[in-house]
Amino acid sequence: MTFPKNFLWGGAIAANQAEGAYNVDGRGLVQTDVTTGGSVNSSRMTTYIDKDGNPGKAPSMGHNGRIPEGAKFAVLEDEYYPNHKAVDFYHRYKEDIKLFAEMGYSVFRLSISWARIFPNGDETEPNQAGLDFYRSVFEECRKYNIEPLVSIWHFDTPLALEVNYGGWSNRKLIDLYVNYAKVVFTEYKDLVKYWLTFNEINNTTMFLDIYGDAATDEDYQEGYQVLHNQFVASAKAVLLGHEINPEFMIGNMICGITFYPGTCDPADILANQHKWESGIYYCGDVQAKGKYGTYAKRLWKEHNVTLDITEEDLEILKKGTVDMYTFSYYMSNNVTTHTDQEQVAGNFSSGAKNPYLTYSDWGWAHDPTGLQYYLEKIYDRYELPLMLVENGLGAFDTVEEDGSIHDDYRIDYHRAHVKAMSDAIDNGVDLIAYTTWGCIDIVSAGTGEMRKRYGFIYVDMDDEGNGTLNRSKKDSFEWYKEVIATNGQNCLTD
Ligand code: BG6
Repeated sequence: MTFPKNFLWGGAIAANQAEGAYNVDGRGLVQTDVTTGGSVNSSRMTTYIDKDGNPGKAPSMGHNGRIPEGAKFAVLEDEYYPNHKAVDFYHRYKEDIKLFAEMGYSVFRLSISWARIFPNGDETEPNQAGLDFYRSVFEECRKYNIEPLVSIWHFDTPLALEVNYGGWSNRKLIDLYVNYAKVVFTEYKDLVKYWLTFNEINNTTMFLDIYGDAATDEDYQEGYQVLHNQFVASAKAVLLGHEINPEFMIGNMICGITFYPGTCDPADILANQHKWESGIYYCGDVQAKGKYGTYAKRLWKEHNVTLDITEEDLEILKKGTVDMYTFSYYMSNNVTTHTDQEQVAGNFSSGAKNPYLTYSDWGWAHDPTGLQYYLEKIYDRYELPLMLVENGLGAFDTVEEDGSIHDDYRIDYHRAHVKAMSDAIDNGVDLIAYTTWGCIDIVSAGTGEMRKRYGFIYVDMDDEGNGTLNRSKKDSFEWYKEVIATNGQNCLTD
């Protein structure tokens, strides 16, 4: 058997993409509540009322909405916001977790919405209804012997913190986040062992590269300061978590993309090395090694960045390193200095099209070998247990007349990635968990679409908000059940 006996198999979702119930039981607003849907060719839009009282919308940049000076974020009457209802996990979690248990999950990754616990982010007392909701979700998991794997931030800072404090570039958010972490660590210390501090933390600066010259030095200045503040918050949370329960395993979470040089031109080889540094290692090194990489000064210089970093911060970073390195992996990207190559973009990164790979309908490369490459490279760098906490294929699904959904493309995608994990494990990598992304269909983070589906469980909901929200099993449901029952063995022999 390649996969260790206690390997954790399961699936993953995020609060804002799954829960819905956006204004229920005292929850505060987050950015996605003022963000419309988009598509592969059109950006999601952030909505607002401008200083003269007129409604307006601006393209979202990554997970942030930039709105004009003096404007206020607003939910507009004539717009549809897919995350408001999402797939109503808030009311249907018992049914969903039962289905996960039927597949044999031993782990289920989800996130806590900060705005359910502290609606404005800075209250002194937590919202009891929010605490009760997650307690009930975690207890439901435990009923089926499913380990909850909990992200305490998945792109959803309470909107009030953006408005009143200017968001994460303000150091005050460090203590507010740490207080929030303290409350949830304490509240769930006997129900949750595995925690993640910030989802895909590296996106903040990685996605700026997509905008080319449109991203200014000020954007990088802000991005790197946001990251520094989040690193300190994360390290403080790790230290605190270990005090609250020494058994906690606390990880970081990196948007893992394998970068290849587009050609063997030495300039491409160097550009590719620099891409690994700015895109992948920058955050991983701070969170797993406890210090900025040697290349960090070069990156700051490239964008005229001067950071507010104290000696005390550096001490905290050194001490508060993570227990495990966790990451998402969907695809690889080619890095080249040659401008004549066809470009592709996906998941906060862009690059030249790779002629050896096929691409999804959303332009994401299908590259399981890139996963093996990532696993081996990263394990060698950090020598920490690894968890692959997001992996999947966003695809259109067709519901047949009899209700069945034949998603062989999804099965093929996962089978190839499980095989890649197994090859990496055979080569000595300590991989301890696999949670497939959007194990039940949820709202896409990038485009806000429902039709970009990742799930083994189909949810009857479209991009305009029509549908019963009923759940049904796709072919991949039975297939994944078999993967878990055979501890991955069926993927190696098929
Ligand atoms: C990751 C995020 O970037 O990729 C998820 O952590 C996201 O929140 C996932 O949903 C897939 O991206 P998308 O845009 O297809 O939903």
